[in-house]
Amino acid sequence: MAGISTLWVPLLTTLAGIGSLTLVSTAYSTIRFLTLHLITPSHPLQSYKRADPEPAYALITGSSAGIGFGIARALIQQGFNIILLGHLAGELASAKEQLQTLVPSASIQILVMDARTASPEEMQAAVQSIAHLNVSILVNNVGGNPVTLPPFRVLGNYSSGDVDAVINQNARFMARLTAMMLPILSRRKEEGGKGAERGERSLIINLSSAGRIGLPWLVMYGATKAFNWAFSCGLSRELSVDPGTRHIDCLAILPGDVKSQGNCEGVSANDPRSDEFAEQVVRKVDCAVGRGMKELRPWMMHGVQDWVLGILPEGVKSKELIKVLGKKKDAFNGAWEKSR
Ligand SMILES: NC(=O)c1ccc[n+]([C@@H]2O[C@H](COP(=O)([O-])OP(=O)(O)OC[C@H]3O[C@@H](n4cnc5c(N)ncnc54)[C@H](OP(=O)(O)O)[C@@H]3O)[C@@H](O)[C@H]2O)c1
Repeated sequence: MAGISTLWVPLLTTLAGIGSLTLVSTAYSTIRFLTLHLITPSHPLQSYKRADPEPAYALITGSSAGIGFGIARALIQQGFNIILLGHLAGELASAKEQLQTLVPSASIQILVMDARTASPEEMQAAVQSIAHLNVSILVNNVGGNPVTLPPFRVLGNYSSGDVDAVINQNARFMARLTAMMLPILSRRKEEGGKGAERGERSLIINLSSAGRIGLPWLVMYGATKAFNWAFSCGLSRELSVDPGTRHIDCLAILPGDVKSQGNCEGVSANDPRSDEFAEQVVRKVDCAVGRGMKELRPWMMHGVQDWVLGILPEGVKSKELIKVLGKKKDAFNGAWEKSR
């Protein structure tokens, strides 16, 4: 009997210890999750406003519609000046008009540029044209699935042009633009770090996607979003090392389904609209950056969906992704068939 109890007591003590630790860690994660989503500042992003007389600018790519326009709208309402970047001058002008009506005193600049085809020289010239402005925020938002239609296809049906178009629009453009913008975002009035504490910080936000885990019929899209995510996390760590860039925060955003111009088929009634989603991005960045997070799922239910996917065994996860993406494929490709 004595032999058995000497075996059971340490085993039960260890199991109780593991159980308590699991409980504490689950409670801690739940509280952090809830506070991130339920307690948001009414005046976010104050530390990126810079101490200049002229309000700081935010450059948002792909901002004539969808989430990019929503972020521009939320930022201008928070007192930022805005630089809209897109490929169609008419759409940009109409976006500018809407934003200007909202905040007549704000300065709104426009950069017309095609993220798929812009050469490094064109990009450098565009960056040069805004170099005199006090830009403190870069939102790498432009992205999508710019393949010849139908949009959802097996990789074997992609032309080389399709492969390159997705890489250019979702990965190459944001990587080049970020590198070109870093000297501008690095600028501070006060050298030596003090300015950064007094609201002279800079911010880079990168729109990745929950699809970075790998999506059937959108293989190139998912892969470039994984690039975007890894780029963002790596850059965030790199920036934190150098005293000259330590004041630049960098965060990847991981949306699930958001109703937008580009994602208009196969979305459910519970999915957020692009303006609702964008508002949550702007409200939750401060908390995420303050906690040292590298990625943010601003929409609460997207966080829950990702968590569930993360704990599923691979076989079940793949089955579920194939089912969900299959429905989306039918919805998108069906709409395309009808419109022909
Ligand atoms: N919506 C979602 O469910 C979802 C989910 C995960 C991740 N995301 C990511 O979030 C970002 C925004 O998505 P969204 O759904 O809001 O996109 P969207 O509705 O398609 O809007 C994209 C914006 O980019 C512009 N644009 C398109 N092609 C361009 C090009 N070649 N050069 C410059 N600008 C261009 C569009 O202008 P035009 O209107 O003139 O074409 C539009 O203003 C993307 O990176 C996307 O991958 C979205």
